[in-house]
Amino acid sequence: MLQRTLSIIKPDAVRNGFTGAILAEIHRAGFRIVAIGKQSISKPEAEGFYAVHSGKPFFDSLTGFMSSGPLILMVLEKDNAIADLRKLMGATDPANAEEGTIRKKFAGSIQENAIHGSDAEETAAFEIGYWFAGYELI
Ligand code: CMP
Repeated sequence: MLQRTLSIIKPDAVRNGFTGAILAEIHRAGFRIVAIGKQSISKPEAEGFYAVHSGKPFFDSLTGFMSSGPLILMVLEKDNAIADLRKLMGATDPANAEEGTIRKKFAGSIQENAIHGSDAEETAAFEIGYWFAGYELI
């Protein structure tokens, strides 16, 4: 089933110059880029995006990190996009990520883990709508 997911190349990966290499992995895996933009986000914007984690001990540090520099926001499309992107990304903690995954190759820590991908259909709908207007999805 053709599906869309929200992905972010996080500030650590952008800072380290991995944007092009990560986009190449995404391309090779067969995703179509529906929308893409580079921007910096504010801490309140990061807090709204990660609201589901607001009770977690890492929330303040995570939202500080996400607002620490430019990132790449993308909507990606393919059959089974949500699960396939998460497989391509690897485990949240790069120490546990499989060989060949984006996090294994490019992430430095459980927080600064290079890439985000929506974890379910409902989250994808919320996350896409959080960053993009309908007319930007082309
Ligand atoms: P992401 O897939 O974007 O979803 C939530 C993010 O929280 C996750 O990637 C990590 O960047 C961060 N995160 C999850 N667990 C931890 C943790 N135990 N410590 C620090 N950051 C975490």
